[in-house]
Amino acid sequence: MSVTRERSGALDVARIRADFPVLERTVGDKPLIYLDSAATSQKPRQVIQAEADFYAHHNANAHRGIYLLAEEATAMYEEARAKLARFIGSPDPATIVFTRGTTESTNLVAYAWARRELREGDEILLTEMEHHSNIVPWQLAARDTGAVLRYIPLTDDGLLDLSELETLLTERTRLLAVTGMSNSLGTLPPIKELVEAAHAVGALALVDGAQLVPHVPVDVTELDCDFLTISGHKMLGPTASGGLYAKRELLERMDPFLGGGHMIEEVFHDRSTWNEVPFKFEAGTMNIAQEIGLGAAIDYLEALGMDNVRAHEVHITEHALRRLQEVGARIFGPLDAEVRGGAISFWYKDVHPHDLATILNEEGIAIRAGHHCSQLVMRRYGVPATARASFYVYNTDDEVDALVEALAKAGDVFGS
Ligand code: ALA
Repeated sequence: MSVTRERSGALDVARIRADFPVLERTVGDKPLIYLDSAATSQKPRQVIQAEADFYAHHNANAHRGIYLLAEEATAMYEEARAKLARFIGSPDPATIVFTRGTTESTNLVAYAWARRELREGDEILLTEMEHHSNIVPWQLAARDTGAVLRYIPLTDDGLLDLSELETLLTERTRLLAVTGMSNSLGTLPPIKELVEAAHAVGALALVDGAQLVPHVPVDVTELDCDFLTISGHKMLGPTASGGLYAKRELLERMDPFLGGGHMIEEVFHDRSTWNEVPFKFEAGTMNIAQEIGLGAAIDYLEALGMDNVRAHEVHITEHALRRLQEVGARIFGPLDAEVRGGAISFWYKDVHPHDLATILNEEGIAIRAGHHCSQLVMRRYGVPATARASFYVYNTDDEVDALVEALAKAGDVFGS
C-alpha cells in the first residue's frame, strides 16, 4: 500500500495501523482486512496496555477500600468517568453512569425512568431505523405501563420521513428515542432538530450514541438531549465498557435500576435509601478495568482529534460508495457521505449476503452479513439481510478496493 493512500484527511492511517496488533495477523495466507467496526472496533496497544497495567499494578475494587491499591483503583475509575464526560461535552462527571454499553444504558432508562413515569396512553416515539436495543426495551416498558409506541417511517433513500412529524410527535409523546447514526443504513438523522421538536411538546429525548459517539464529535450541552447512550467497545475501548449520559436532575429523580452494594446510602430491614448520583445506578462491582481501558481509548481518539476522525470517515465512505456503485452494488441508505456514517449496507448482484461474507472471508476480508439487529429496516426495504462493510480510523482506500475486487470473485461464483 502506498503511504499517500494511507493518509486521509488529517489522519496518518499508516501510523495508526501500527498501534493495532490485530491488523498484523493473517486469515489463511491473506492479510486481515477488517471492515466490521460497526459491530466492534479493534483495540490499539494503548488500550490493551491500560487494562493490563491496571490488573498488573493497581487491581482492587473501586469505592470500597482505603488502602493504597483501592484508592488508586477508585481514582483511575473516576478519572475515566471524567474523561468520558468531557469527551461528550458534559461539564459534570456525575452525569455519566458507567454501564456495559448502549443496550444496558437504554434498559436502565426503560426501567428506572419509563416504568415509573409512563401511564396508559402515553406515547414513545421511535424510528424505523432503530437497532433492536432501542426498540425492544421500549416494547417491554410499553407492555408494563400501557404506553403506546409510534414510529417515524423511512424514505426510499434511507432517511427519516419527517413529513408527518407533527402528527407523530404530540403532547401525548413522553419520550423520543432516536439513533444518532443508523448501524444498518449509516444515516445521520437530524438529531438536534429532533431533540428541539421533542422538547417543544414537553417530551424527553434519548439519543442512541452507539454508532455516533465513536465517529462524530458530540456535545451534549449543545445538543441538549436528556439521555445519550454510549458503547465503549465501538470506540476503541474494551467490551463491556460504556455509559449512560443523563441530565443530572433526571438521574436525581429516577429510581435505581439494579439493587446491590454501593448504590445505597442506608439499608434497613424494610427499605433502603440511595447513594448520590451516579453511584445510585452502579450496583455491585463494576467493569473497573474496562472503563479504565475506555479512558485510554478516549485519550487515543482525542489525540487524533474527533474532527479528523470524522473527516477520515467521510473520505473513506465517499470512496467506498463510489466504488461499490461502479460495480453495480445496491446500496441501502443515503449516497451522500456528508449525511451518513461509514456503515454501508449493500447487495451485490443477487448473491446472498451470507454467501458474500463467506467468500470475502476467504480473501481475508471481514464484513458483517445479516439483519444487523435492524429487522424493521430489512422489512422496509424488502430484504432478509444485507452485507455490511464499516470503517474506522485504521481503514484505507486500498482495503475498500480489495473489497470491491473480492466482490467480483463472489459474483463469479454465486451471481447469476
Ligand atoms: N450493533 C452492532 C452492529 O451493528 C453489533 O453490528
